[in-house]
Amino acid sequence: MPKVTFLNIDRTVEFESGKLPYAEHGLPESLLDIAINFGIQLEHACGGSCACTTCHVHVKQGDTNLSPATDDELDRLDTAADLTLHSRLGCQAVVKGDVIVDIPSWNRNYVSEGGGSMNLGDAIPPAKNLEHKPKPPGDPDEGGAAPVPVS
Ligand code: FES
Repeated sequence: MPKVTFLNIDRTVEFESGKLPYAEHGLPESLLDIAINFGIQLEHACGGSCACTTCHVHVKQGDTNLSPATDDELDRLDTAADLTLHSRLGCQAVVKGDVIVDIPSWNRNYVSEGGGSMNLGDAIPPAKNLEHKPKPPGDPDEGGAAPVPVS
């Protein structure tokens, strides 16, 4: 029975391989799948399809108890902030044995599932003009030229 410890919340969970209900995000029995099954918040903006880096975790112990990273995962990780030699995407790393991971601090403030989005605080610029309504094509205020009639 593999055990996964999430250091940032000081919680260890245990599951029987092949018996975990699939949470429909990420690979079955991936760190993300396990986190969701046990109600642990791990952001996954792309739904676990290796298309973002919000599920980035640092593996503190047990790298060899995870499935090897694929080229797709490594390519995606190259775009992650705070990359380390022990970085993995939670949605792609399938757990085969005991693992200890840490969710980077910048990735902990979020509202996951249930309709929220990551809280990036001041990193997100305010919306430009919520009252903006599209103007017709050719409007000089939009920088377009007036339409030319076709004969
Ligand atoms: S959730 Fe997007 S890459 Fe893992």
